[in-house]
Amino acid sequence: MMNPHDTIIEARDLWKSFDAGRIPVIQGVDLKIARGEMMALWGTSGSGKSTLLHLLSGLDVPDHGSVSVLGMNVSSEKDCLRLRRHHIGFIFQLHNLIPDLTLEENLRIPAMAAQKSATEVKARIEQLTEAVGLAHRLRHRVQDLSGGERQRTAICRALMNRPEIIFADEPTGSLDEQTGAAVFELFSRLVALEKVTVLLATHERRFVEACHRALRVSNGKVTEL
Ligand SMILES: Nc1ncnc2c1ncn2[C@@H]1O[C@H](COP(=O)(O)OP(=O)(O)OP(=O)(O)O)[C@@H](O)[C@H]1O
Ligand SMILES: [Mg+2]
Repeated sequence: MMNPHDTIIEARDLWKSFDAGRIPVIQGVDLKIARGEMMALWGTSGSGKSTLLHLLSGLDVPDHGSVSVLGMNVSSEKDCLRLRRHHIGFIFQLHNLIPDLTLEENLRIPAMAAQKSATEVKARIEQLTEAVGLAHRLRHRVQDLSGGERQRTAICRALMNRPEIIFADEPTGSLDEQTGAAVFELFSRLVALEKVTVLLATHERRFVEACHRALRVSNGKVTEL
């Protein structure tokens, strides 16, 4: 049993550039995230928030440095696969759902990768979609859903396999102010209920205020806000 204040994500001296070094983005980042924290990564557009989330979640590889999540090494393919299947959820700015599939089918995909039982999957889909007010839309194709409904579906998908950590990249970035606030509120309540550690990339101060802690991303570095 882990202590609630245990470090759950640790990055050491991370560096990342694009275009053969011509676009330096992350330049020597160290950070530690404790279990149960809701942490904001705040910075202007282009400051490197998405890049950092990708490095921390194993979606991209650093040029230098290391990331450990739940004591596993993200750059090990085996550990990374295990983390992504069972321990990590990711919410993308533009949801990245499959538009031709129904809401329910989209939620079944991560469960398939984790080889969950049919009964468990059904119960989890009901529980999550009820929590976000979408239980009546299960058989609708994602392309017929509104922007807010799609983002709520993406939140459910990220939570399907009961991850310990969610990486949320501007999860309400594509929504209008009011819908964005409502979806964010729902997201915060749900992750608190499920005791999920959250790393939230946002450029909006109002969402930063709702987090326990915030890190500012600028000039390739990260500083406590
Ligand atoms: N694959 C890539 N190839 C080249 N440049 C890239 C690539 N990915 C990101 N960049 C550049 O790295 C910088 C940081 O991008 P990143 O997407 O991490 O910023 P961000 O803080 O998430 O911005 P936003 O708030 O607009 O989402 C930008 O200048 C971007 O153009
Ligand atoms: Mg981004």
